[in-house]
Amino acid sequence: TRKVTTHRLIEMKQKGEKISMLTAYDYTMAQIVDGAGMDVILVGDSASNTMAGNVTTLPITLDQMIYHGKSVVRGVKRAMVVVDMPFGSYQGNPLEGLASAIRIMKESHADALKLEGGEEIIESVQKILSAGIPIMGHLGLMPQSINKYGTYTVRAKDDFEAEKLVRDAHLLEEAGCFAIVLEKIPAALAQRVANELTIPIIGIGAGGGVDGQVLVVQDMLGMSKGFSPKFLRRYADLHTVMTDAIGQYITDVKSRDFPNENEQY
Ligand code: KIV
Ligand code: NA
Repeated sequence: TRKVTTHRLIEMKQKGEKISMLTAYDYTMAQIVDGAGMDVILVGDSASNTMAGNVTTLPITLDQMIYHGKSVVRGVKRAMVVVDMPFGSYQGNPLEGLASAIRIMKESHADALKLEGGEEIIESVQKILSAGIPIMGHLGLMPQSINKYGTYTVRAKDDFEAEKLVRDAHLLEEAGCFAIVLEKIPAALAQRVANELTIPIIGIGAGGGVDGQVLVVQDMLGMSKGFSPKFLRRYADLHTVMTDAIGQYITDVKSRDFPNENEQY
């Protein structure tokens, strides 16, 4: 099993092979996701929500992202592992951005990093790329900017926002990013970006006209409750499976059914 590389992803786009991407934040889940044959595993800063129970992605720290990144890398043989740079670690001084990027790469052994934004962060993007660190861009709905927008609704619905997004996508490609995530934007706009760019466009809530798809693993496995955006397809109901299994264990302990004679020394 050869590791998936940035070159392989660009080749997949050229051949019209769709790219599969899913999040993971820990060793056990990473082994399962990699073993299933995923192309890219994202150690998303959505760990702030799924792992730590925060309302937004803003509180997660660089040290915490490194911990999740390390844990995932240890469980992966084939997939490319991309780690999100957390809020506050790259939006200011590009040299600070580079220092944060180098820490993640050195300490987690990830393959690449993902940053939210276009023109506003282009100097950090250039600085990090100049160190030989591959970058995946992220445009459209950018959860690290939630306080600027106030909602998680569909982005770039008007021409002004749409044209800025297209410009930003080109800017990121010209800077040397190897792929871009487009989150929650109209399908037609996402398809236009995928057609205009050479690098792969990975969508979440961005329709089928892009080069690949990404979801949050707890959402697609049905582990999380009460999050049902239109773009989410649930492939399992693990919430029910796990609740039933745990409930059965409780029953067996209380009834003295567990452990039985074969389950002791
Ligand atoms: O953090 C995350 O899970 C993400 C994906 C939704 C793209 O950035
Ligand atoms: Na993210």
